Amino acid sequence: MSKVLVAYFSASGVTAKVAGKLAETIDAKLYEIEPEQPYTNDDLNWQNKMSRSSVEMNDKNSRPAIKTSVDDMDQYETVFVGFPIWWYREPSIIDTFMESYDFSGKTIIPFATSGGSGMGESTNILQSIAGDAKVVQGKRFSSNVSLDELNNWAKEWL
Ligand SMILES: Cc1cc2nc3c(=O)[nH]c(=O)nc-3n(C[C@H](O)[C@H](O)[C@H](O)COP(=O)(O)O)c2cc1C
Repeated sequence: MSKVLVAYFSASGVTAKVAGKLAETIDAKLYEIEPEQPYTNDDLNWQNKMSRSSVEMNDKNSRPAIKTSVDDMDQYETVFVGFPIWWYREPSIIDTFMESYDFSGKTIIPFATSGGSGMGESTNILQSIAGDAKVVQGKRFSSNVSLDELNNWAKEWL
């Protein structure tokens, strides 16, 4: 079986929990996309137009720095990419991640958690960044998704 990576960003722990369950149920390697500068509660205040997340998400060119990198991305053929939905799309640190590696020939499977909204534009944006990869339509999960539900969904690509 080819090696599988579950890469995720999580600002407040919800996506981290789902990503951990996913990696566990499909026996994949887990990697956290950790910001060089962690997000504080003030940074995450979407009601404040001047908060860090608002400023970053208003600028399509924003690319927040990531603290560590994946050890030998070449070994993975399938990469699940998890994130919270921010303003109906992926947080811009996910764009940093997608630009940091050559994903040609790999399959990218986005997944997300959110307050209720779906994947929005995120799948299309990820595909536009990872030109030569195959980005499949991702799925939004609730915070208490079961191992079985994640396994049933993920096995389509394994
Ligand atoms: C800046 C910001 C923007 C958000 N925008 C949305 C949104 O557009 N739609 C939605 O349903 N939830 C939105 N949320 C809620 C998060 O997607 C949700 O709480 C998510 O599960 C958090 O995941 P995490 O704990 O892994 O960071 C937003 C949260 C933040 C901090």
